[in-house]
Amino acid sequence: MALPKSIPMTLAVALLLAGIATAEAQNCGCSTDLCCSRFGYCGTSDDYCGAGCREGPCYTSPTNDVSVADVVTQSFFDGIIGQADGGCAGRGFYSRDAFLTAAGYYPNFGRTGSANDSRREIAAFFAHVTHETGHFCYIEEINGASRDYCDDTNTEWPCVAGRNYYGRGPIQLSWNFNYGPAGRDIGFDGLGAPETVANDVVISFRTALWYWMNNCHSLIISGQGFGATIRAINGALECDGNNPATVNARVGYYRDYCSQLGVDPGSNLTC
Ligand SMILES: *[C@@H]1O[C@H](CO)[C@@H](O)[C@H](O)[C@H]1NC(C)=O
Repeated sequence: MALPKSIPMTLAVALLLAGIATAEAQNCGCSTDLCCSRFGYCGTSDDYCGAGCREGPCYTSPTNDVSVADVVTQSFFDGIIGQADGGCAGRGFYSRDAFLTAAGYYPNFGRTGSANDSRREIAAFFAHVTHETGHFCYIEEINGASRDYCDDTNTEWPCVAGRNYYGRGPIQLSWNFNYGPAGRDIGFDGLGAPETVANDVVISFRTALWYWMNNCHSLIISGQGFGATIRAINGALECDGNNPATVNARVGYYRDYCSQLGVDPGSNLTC
C-alpha cells in the first residue's frame, strides 16, 4: 500500500467531509453500511465500529456463523506461502496460526453479511496480501528505507526522527499517519517503534486486519466489489489506468481464491 505524497491531502479532505457528515448525525439512524459509535456518530472506521459500537456493522457483533479457521485452512494458507521462494524472509515469519490469532481481535472479519460475502472478503484480503508480499515472501518493502514515508504536514501523528514508515507486514502498512493510529488501536508504539510490524508476526497480521477493517471491510459487505478494495489500498498508483498490470494481478489472485473457496467473485472487480 505504498501511497504517493498526494494521498495525505485526499485523506485530509475525506476526513473533513466525514467530520461534517458525522456532525449532522449524532443520534444514529445511520445508513445500513455505517456504524453508530458509542458517542452516537455514524462512520466506518475503528472509532465507530470498534469498542462501544451501538449498531450497524460493528466489529464485535458477528452476523453469520462462518468460521474463518474453517475457510482459511492450512492447505489454503500453504497454497499461497508455498509459492514463495525458500529463501524468502517471510517463509520463517508468516503463519496461519498467527493470522488466526490476529483475526480473533476482529470478530467481524469474514463474519459479516452472508456466508458468501464472508468468503469473498477472505478471498479479497488474501489476494491483496499475496500481491503486497509476493506470496508472503516479503516482510519489509524492497528498498523501503531509501524512501520517505513521512507526511510531515500531519501534526496528529508526527514522525519520530530516525524512524521510517515504509511498507511492513501482510498489507505493507505505510506512512506515519497509518503507523500512529494502528499502534494506538493495537497497543504498540507505531511511531516510535514501527519495526515492531516486521518483528512480531501477530502484530504484523493485526496491522493488516486493522487497515482492512477500517478501509475495505465495509466495501465488500456493501457489495461495492473487489475493485473498490484496490482503490482503498493503492488506488492512486493503480486505478484509473495508472497500473493495469498490478490491478490485473490482484484480480487474478482474487478470482483464484474465490474459486478455491467456492464462491462467485461478484462484479466490479477492477478500478
Ligand atoms: C453462494 O455461492 C455459491 C457459489 O457461487 C452459490 O452456489 C450459492 O447459491 C451461494 N449461496 C447463496 C446463499 O447465495
